[in-house]
Amino acid sequence: RRSSSVVAMASSNKNGTKESITKLVSDLNDAKLEADVDVVVAPPFVYIDQVKNSLTDRIEIAAQNSWVGKGGAFTGEISVEQLKDIGCKWVVLGHSERRHVIGEDDQFIGKKAAYALSEGLGVIACIGEQLQEREAGKTFDVCFQQLKAYADAIPSWDNVVIAYEPVWAIGTGKVATPEQAQEVHAALRDWLKNSVSADVATKTRIIYGGSVNGSNCAELAKQEDIDGFLVGGASLKGPEFATIVNSVT
Ligand code: G3P
Repeated sequence: RRSSSVVAMASSNKNGTKESITKLVSDLNDAKLEADVDVVVAPPFVYIDQVKNSLTDRIEIAAQNSWVGKGGAFTGEISVEQLKDIGCKWVVLGHSERRHVIGEDDQFIGKKAAYALSEGLGVIACIGEQLQEREAGKTFDVCFQQLKAYADAIPSWDNVVIAYEPVWAIGTGKVATPEQAQEVHAALRDWLKNSVSADVATKTRIIYGGSVNGSNCAELAKQEDIDGFLVGGASLKGPEFATIVNSVT
């Protein structure tokens, strides 16, 4: 059985102040979290140190992005080496906002994943279709192409969690139905089986993101190929986030 995994991500750069993070960390430290769920939080860079210094070791820390190669003269970018130094174990890559607002392409994201893995960070590898792509019947094509770019770049899937996030569901309150999410997760697992290996397909966790909350998580979590969640807005409320964590066992 694959272990389950939940990532909290206060990803908007309007989310988080020193004060709000103090409260959130305190709620997470008090929360009763099921033992067999891996829990990771991805604070904005500037708050990672505060979180690392106050959050229980039960929860690991991810960054929301990393530089594509070895650190150097890249002003304003954060290197993998620095993330490790500050205590990150994971990095979220390929988030839809990196792709569609900042303009990162599949190959660039694949390179980032390969570099982060080579330095020992785990990678939460995001993929997902936009609304017009879904409406045009291109959901699988888009997701497979994004997945292939990771597969082409990385030597191993051991330290990778795939996050399927339909872009139309992110921050919109319009969650994918359990059937919609399961259909894509199953197709992604099938793609891994056919294009990588049966072993990788069985072992790799595929988590769902996009308007997950304390009320819809249980039905989603019941689906065969949904191994956990990438949570945005609902991760800003500690007790609700704990409900989501405990739904995936
Ligand atoms: O960046 C978080 C995002 O991927 C999911 O956000 O608010 O739809 O749960 P949300």
